[in-house]
Amino acid sequence: MPFWAPDIGIDLGTENFSMYVRGRGIVISEPTLVVLDRENRRAVRAVGDEASFMLGRSPDRLTAVSPIKNGQVADFDIAELMLKYFIRKAIGVSYLGKPRIIVSVPCNLDDVNRKALTEAVRFAAGSRHVYLIEKPFAGAIGTGLPVYDPVGSLVVDIGAGTTDVAVISLGGLVVSQSIQVGGSKFDEAIIEYLRKECSILVGRQTAENIKKDLAAALPLEEPRSILVKGINQLNTSAGTVRFTSTQAYEAVRSACSAIVKAIRWVLERTPPELAADIMRGGIHLTGDGSRLFALDRYISESLGIPVLLARDPGDCCILGIGYLTENIQLVSPQNKGAGVPAGK
Ligand SMILES: Nc1ncnc2c1ncn2[C@@H]1O[C@H](COP(=O)(O)OP(=O)(O)O)[C@@H](O)[C@H]1O
Ligand SMILES: [Mg+2]
Repeated sequence: MPFWAPDIGIDLGTENFSMYVRGRGIVISEPTLVVLDRENRRAVRAVGDEASFMLGRSPDRLTAVSPIKNGQVADFDIAELMLKYFIRKAIGVSYLGKPRIIVSVPCNLDDVNRKALTEAVRFAAGSRHVYLIEKPFAGAIGTGLPVYDPVGSLVVDIGAGTTDVAVISLGGLVVSQSIQVGGSKFDEAIIEYLRKECSILVGRQTAENIKKDLAAALPLEEPRSILVKGINQLNTSAGTVRFTSTQAYEAVRSACSAIVKAIRWVLERTPPELAADIMRGGIHLTGDGSRLFALDRYISESLGIPVLLARDPGDCCILGIGYLTENIQLVSPQNKGAGVPAGK
């Protein structure tokens, strides 16, 4: 039996869960989802990909929940069960020495929530060594920015539940802000628009598809439209409406402007030297939520600063966490650099 478990890095997204194992790379990339028995909530039926497959196909007795909301632990017991499942799946259980674990968190997570997350990971892994790393810091490493140099970088990580904005220099966050606006807000805005303006009710999956196919942060030069199927609110029968890209743009507009507002808030508090670096280097977008069409152009035009969308934005965070997992001395308590040892 091997003595020491390999160190683990986790990107704990509201929608997507990824795990990196030291020496092996990314080993898990599945939805942050658990299917449970309604009567006995500790009876987990499925986790991750399996849970997502069961969605909509399971009997009434079963319910699907995501234990992470806006980057925070929403349900402690289920979060622990989910983490335990994924850790076992990735490295098994036959180790005497427990792994050290790095986990991504939103910026400005308060002490109560930091503690809840740390405890859930500690219980799940049986390990005392848990380190929390802010998502934009991990995303910055993942997109190749020189986070340990005396140069300012501005990273905006747009996930499903939160948008995290941070100015990074010399291995730490200089100014940061986290808002509860992300990909899910775009979906909700589309549902709300269709309900109010078109009297049609659609589910989250339909709204997400509309967002990916049609929505944009700026009006399209050549407007398009699609047929949307849903439930007609007036006579509760199945109905279809034609939904245009202009309407989709109107639906997501205010969530996009909230993101720009958060970036502006951070820029206003950024020391001038670092602000000058950002004007030169641009704003870097990570997280899959930043793939909303024309969001990069909208942010750039609103702020007058170049914006660069990362390649594979959804993977930046776990790649950065992976780098830290391979170089764990960078986050260990002796090191004053990035990341605060959890529970301190
Ligand atoms: N092509 C796309 N256009 C717009 N949004 C997208 C696209 N692809 C994925 N998303 C959205 O990105 C969000 C998930 O991003 P992710 O970084 O994985 O979130 P988290 O880390 O919070 O789990 C979801 O809201 C999803 O709908
Ligand atoms: Mg993410």
